Amino acid sequence: TGPETVSPTGQPTGADQARVAQSGAYLTTAQGTRLYDTDHSLKAGPRGPVLLQDHHLREKIMHFDHERIPERVVHARGAGAHGVFQSYGTAAGVTKAAFLAADAETPVFVRFSTVLGSRGSADTVRDTRGFATKFYTEEGVFDLVGNNIPVFFIQDAIKFPDVIHAGKPHPDREIPQAQSAHDTFWDFVSLHTEAQHHAMWNMSDRGIPRSYRTMEGFGVHTFRLVNAEGATTLVKFHWKPKLGVHSQVWEEAQITGGVDPDFHRRDLADAIESGAYPQWELGIQTFPDTPEQTFEGIDLLDATKIVPEELAPVRPIGLLTLNRNPSNFFAETEQVAFHVGHLVPGIDVTDDPLLAGRLFSYLDTQITRLAGPNFNQIPINRPHAPVNDMLRDGFHQQAVHTGVAPYKPNSLDGGCPFFAGADTGAFVEVPVELPAARKVREAPASFSDHFSQARLFWLSMTPVEREHIVAAYTFELGKCYEQAVKERQLLALANIDPELCAQVAAGLGLPAPEATQPLADVRPSPALSQVGGEWPAD
Ligand code: HEM
Repeated sequence: TGPETVSPTGQPTGADQARVAQSGAYLTTAQGTRLYDTDHSLKAGPRGPVLLQDHHLREKIMHFDHERIPERVVHARGAGAHGVFQSYGTAAGVTKAAFLAADAETPVFVRFSTVLGSRGSADTVRDTRGFATKFYTEEGVFDLVGNNIPVFFIQDAIKFPDVIHAGKPHPDREIPQAQSAHDTFWDFVSLHTEAQHHAMWNMSDRGIPRSYRTMEGFGVHTFRLVNAEGATTLVKFHWKPKLGVHSQVWEEAQITGGVDPDFHRRDLADAIESGAYPQWELGIQTFPDTPEQTFEGIDLLDATKIVPEELAPVRPIGLLTLNRNPSNFFAETEQVAFHVGHLVPGIDVTDDPLLAGRLFSYLDTQITRLAGPNFNQIPINRPHAPVNDMLRDGFHQQAVHTGVAPYKPNSLDGGCPFFAGADTGAFVEVPVELPAARKVREAPASFSDHFSQARLFWLSMTPVEREHIVAAYTFELGKCYEQAVKERQLLALANIDPELCAQVAAGLGLPAPEATQPLADVRPSPALSQVGGEWPAD
């Protein structure tokens, strides 16, 4: 099913380099010593005590005891697939990234996920979905670690532990599982109102995708592209599913969650196995790289804001096709390590404070999750570009490095001739001018609008989508025990839209509060509504 990944010389690369089947004429220990029996412990007589000297018994049970690794602290539940990204070359004017040049074809691995549930939780819960793509480009690995919702709960990464603590199952009873229906979540989002926009997307049909194949994906942050002449452009990345965007209604999700908790995982694997390869078009919204980093009054460094597609159309730049299922879930889907800092020449980060924290967090968590700093050597994480780093030793080092431990400057070792300079296809950070500044712990004034885009989203919905949103808020808030939390969330809804607030308040049997802020003057955006997408036969 689908092409194997091979190097230009025809050698298997990445994960394929290390495929091992259970084969051979006899079993051995991990040391290669032949075994004659793996069914009985060594005992002092058939009914006697088991002997500690049985190395095979100890090795077999020791290894089994350590088969599991820690699950991801977030996005623990996921499903992955291999595929290929075919560039259209249409971004070549704005980026020098070689994998976006005309006709370039790049192997990829994609992992979809829920955020809050544990590894064994159900697929069809109401939650945000992860959409992470590893591009094994000839210039190194580029990871686009996105979600199916274009905005985030927080503007500053320092709030990430807070929002996750508020949303994850509670420490005492470990419930609820991957559902936002509890007091702590609504307590957080009603106090920290920048979360209202993302929460509204969660309460909409987007919170329950029909399948991974029918989800959009978003890079969320604004990135900075640089072309061969050094000119820069700010961009937001979008994945658009060829099958259109589709959701389950709440009742459907309850049934699929109960009858088949693997509903999304199974759908993806079955589709690929049957040759119905899912496809997404990658597109970019482009914005001039001005010192203000705003577009039409929208702060491009604020991850709680979108730029409506009417203001900046999404331009298609390539096609992703998922065409091969993983052959080993642990080796590939579980051990894959994405990182927003895995960039290639032509793509750079911006000063979005949410992105800055992520640049630290992924590498840091993976040192624990994948036991040491050498997880880039795990087959699924190996770049398909040649690696010549100065990193040595550490837990689970696979390479047998020869020569002295590398250091620079170095007059003894040929002066490390491999370092040829910045103009040889290297990743060079864009030399952005930084304004004179004083150290502060504060957000810019432009981050203080928390309601206008939630209102934009609500006003963009069709009547049936609004019904679903009202029902979702009513159901989820109905699960809260704390009256004060419900009331505070109703106040946030009043500041978004009084009609929405009134309907949810009626559902909860509570009075609808008056808005405390003037309502934002926004125009609905048809691109935000998903009703009417096609459902082609496959
Ligand atoms: C994992 C997306 C914000 C920390 C993930 C994954 C995705 C994702 C898709 C799963 C990757 C996989 O499949 O292996 C996002 C998006 C964000 C965001 C789109 C906002 C725009 C943050 C922030 C932090 C963070 C602010 C921390 C400051 C983590 C951690 C993991 C993770 C620790 C687990 C990684 C691993 O164990 O390999 N995120 N995330 N994320 N994210 Fe985020």
